[in-house]
Amino acid sequence: MINSKTKLLGLIGHPVEHSLSPVMHNRALKDKNLNYVYLAFDVHPNKLKYVVDGAKALGTFKGFNVTVPYKVEVINYLDKLDREAQLIGAVNTVKIEDSIATGYNTDGLGARMALEEEIGKVKGKDILIVGAGGAARAVAFELAKDNNITVVNRTVERAKLLAEEIWRKLNRKVNYGDLKVDLRDYHILIHATPVGMYPHVNVKPVIDLEGIPRDMVVMDLIYNPRETALLREAKKRGAKTINGIGMLVYQGALAFEIWTGVKPDVEVMRRAVESCLLQS
Ligand SMILES: NC(=O)c1ccc[n+]([C@@H]2O[C@H](COP(=O)([O-])OP(=O)(O)OC[C@H]3O[C@@H](n4cnc5c(N)ncnc54)[C@H](OP(=O)(O)O)[C@@H]3O)[C@@H](O)[C@H]2O)c1
Repeated sequence: MINSKTKLLGLIGHPVEHSLSPVMHNRALKDKNLNYVYLAFDVHPNKLKYVVDGAKALGTFKGFNVTVPYKVEVINYLDKLDREAQLIGAVNTVKIEDSIATGYNTDGLGARMALEEEIGKVKGKDILIVGAGGAARAVAFELAKDNNITVVNRTVERAKLLAEEIWRKLNRKVNYGDLKVDLRDYHILIHATPVGMYPHVNVKPVIDLEGIPRDMVVMDLIYNPRETALLREAKKRGAKTINGIGMLVYQGALAFEIWTGVKPDVEVMRRAVESCLLQS
């Protein structure tokens, strides 16, 4: 029941109406009997500072997720950043405690947890990341800690800048290049572009899957549709495929624990996401 003790969590982005986070978090909060409510806030581009200041001023507001297009800009209005958010240079989770707003980034670790849930420990692997945008950055910083990473991107300069940044901040060498890539050199492919996302579900994948090794693991960060054209083609060629639902659930579970101090039931969160996707 919502009452005078109910605490507020939320999502800040623009747009936000398609987000699955409110359903996922509210189910997990109910499951753990926590008196919080999670709402989505569609924030106008020139109002972000006021929204963060307002959230800090309201003692009831305990934290929020940040999505496109504010993951970088929001840093200007926060008081502290944890190490991962500093490394990645972007924030997807903010915790508010005594009017102090601290930024975190759970996307990279969320992606690693989703991958490891399916294939076990990921260490010392040759990993190809397709894309150099926000999601690719988070995943590259996380997996570069103990794997050999190559980033390929439509705009090669962005892949180069990301590789240079990871070298500077983590002292880990990352290769980079364009989308003409030989898949035989890799154990794992992580696709981090919006190509193939609903409603453009039949657009051809951005890389050629010819020569894909049969034992390759192909993860697409897209979760709608659950099976993208890339995953469909990879599966036909014998690869193990993983969609973006796991990453969505684990980045959310990590944020939930940061806000509430309670580990949520990831299966409850996954079922909430799956049921929304089945209805859409
Ligand atoms: N499962 C999850 O929890 C989760 C979390 C975050 C994101 N995602 C998904 O990850 C994907 C990427 O998100 P993002 O936030 O990283 O987006 P972003 O910051 O806008 O980056 C987009 C990336 O995709 C590339 N790209 C876009 N259109 C392309 C095209 N037609 N051909 C080739 N490359 C193209 C861009 O290349 P250029 O640099 O050349 O523009 C860039 O590297 C989205 O589908 C998003 O839904 C999933």
